[in-house]
Amino acid sequence: MNIIYQMPAKVIFGKGTVTLLPQEIKQYGEKVLLVSGKGKTSILAKEIGKVLETDGFQVVPFFQVEPNPSIETVRAGILLALQEKVDMVIAIGGGSPLDTAKAIAASVGSDSIMEELLGINKVKTALPVIAVPTTSGTGSEVTKYSILTMNHKKVSLVSTHIVPKLAIVDPELTLDLPRNVTIDTGLDALSHLLEGFFSRSSSPISDAYAKEGLKWFKYGYEGLLVTGDYQYRESLSMASLLGGLTINTASSGLAHAIGYPLTSNFGVPHGKANAMIMPHLFFWQKSEIIKKYKEASEILGYSDLCEGLIALNHMSDIEPIMSGFSDTPEENIINYAEEVVNNQRFMMSAPKTPNKEDIINMYRKLQWK
Ligand SMILES: [Fe+2]
Repeated sequence: MNIIYQMPAKVIFGKGTVTLLPQEIKQYGEKVLLVSGKGKTSILAKEIGKVLETDGFQVVPFFQVEPNPSIETVRAGILLALQEKVDMVIAIGGGSPLDTAKAIAASVGSDSIMEELLGINKVKTALPVIAVPTTSGTGSEVTKYSILTMNHKKVSLVSTHIVPKLAIVDPELTLDLPRNVTIDTGLDALSHLLEGFFSRSSSPISDAYAKEGLKWFKYGYEGLLVTGDYQYRESLSMASLLGGLTINTASSGLAHAIGYPLTSNFGVPHGKANAMIMPHLFFWQKSEIIKKYKEASEILGYSDLCEGLIALNHMSDIEPIMSGFSDTPEENIINYAEEVVNNQRFMMSAPKTPNKEDIINMYRKLQWK
């Protein structure tokens, strides 16, 4: 067994830990690009910015990140970071601000335009990134991935240089999340745990994270479908973190690749897209992952994983058929399937390699027939 394992992020987890931010970042300099979304998270980001200024930091706000961030948004952030000569990039929010911050840090650090950095291991160096997640799902706070949107397609930047130097995971920041965001992001965490567990690139180290994460997910997510109590928020934050630690080396899988066109073209939230696809994908992959399939079923308390996931989708108000998708021209479905099979990163980690027709069949399961 040969394993390469690298985990450079420092993680601080727990209630109220966001207050540790100023003292923890002093080592990285004085001038901060503070990255956040436009909505509610910008209020929190402003508050954090004020605290940082009181502690002597210079803060440059960049609160323009949209869901599924575009290359254009990243370019605007890069320009600001260069003009202001910032020392570090701090991201407050969900996966979108976190991934944007990583891309900005990579471009400024490597002195390269974004297009040259897309793909695997193109980044030479990056400004320090500090991540403060306000959702529990992406795990981006501990991963080497930045997922962006370019010309209606998801593109990725993969490099250990963009793993945040520090992740402050304070579950209190997730207390006010609305139910739909809890569902969309929570199911993304589940997809990381399951896909990472089944991945061809998994190892006993990543499996330990995945199996532990599934336990935290079950308790936290099922609790949050009923009530928003802190103990469930904490559990889902831990599940999300463990999901990030899982995929950082094991990689996520084809549910992500199949889901990306649904997000880019139909606006389906990322976690929801993954959740719709997972039962069909894992049913198709089952023969190749049978031992782990049973293990995951057991941890989640299901007699059969796919049946359990279908029931979980139902409890999460996710329909098995995607509205608007049934009328999609066949030509488009073929294009999406081509996008999936050409996505080397996900194909390499797939426990069973699909051809274009296999993927088309999975898309058809989401259509009325
Ligand atoms: Fe994901």
